[in-house]
Amino acid sequence: NVPESKGARVDRIRSFIRTCPDFPKPGIPFKDIMPIVQNPDVFFDTIALLEEHVKETGAKVDVVAGLEARGFLFGPPLALRLKCAFVPIRKAGKLPGETVKCSYALEYGQDTIEIQRTAVHPNQNVVIVDDLIATGGTMAGACTLLETVQANVVGCLAVVELDYLKGRENIKHDVHSLVHF
Ligand code: PRP
Repeated sequence: NVPESKGARVDRIRSFIRTCPDFPKPGIPFKDIMPIVQNPDVFFDTIALLEEHVKETGAKVDVVAGLEARGFLFGPPLALRLKCAFVPIRKAGKLPGETVKCSYALEYGQDTIEIQRTAVHPNQNVVIVDDLIATGGTMAGACTLLETVQANVVGCLAVVELDYLKGRENIKHDVHSLVHF
């Protein structure tokens, strides 16, 4: 049995991402990752590739932080494989107790995300996971939240990155995405 190349594995994952024109607004080609999680072999391999990348960096990870909503699909299975905690970063107003907030600009208006202050401890190593990086605003905001609670961001992971939007230029930490458009 010849092991499958990383390129072939990524190409299979890419084939499970559906482009939906004009969603949610005219002119936006929406990348729908749901077919990935609807195929157990492809979903398993997506998590395996994310884990392999983390292991290759050599970073000791204490926490996987996932971004609402679709980062909640990929974050918990990755945390299980890394045997570490999962911590949600949510849209404002959803988390009880003391929280830290960060607002960031959208094309029109702004969005606010938050984390529970004591969910991550100072100096813990955190990888942040989302389904997709577009402008990078959400991921950059998540980095700011984790810096505010004095965690170390050791990596930013996404299943998909829209390279033409240059989102990674807005993110100060190491960014790794599986599928690039
Ligand atoms: C999408 C996506 C990322 C973010 C990426 O989430 O899942 O979280 O946008 O965009 P950015 O790089 O330009 O910040 P969305 O805001 O649609 O929220 P949802 O997952 O709760 O639907």
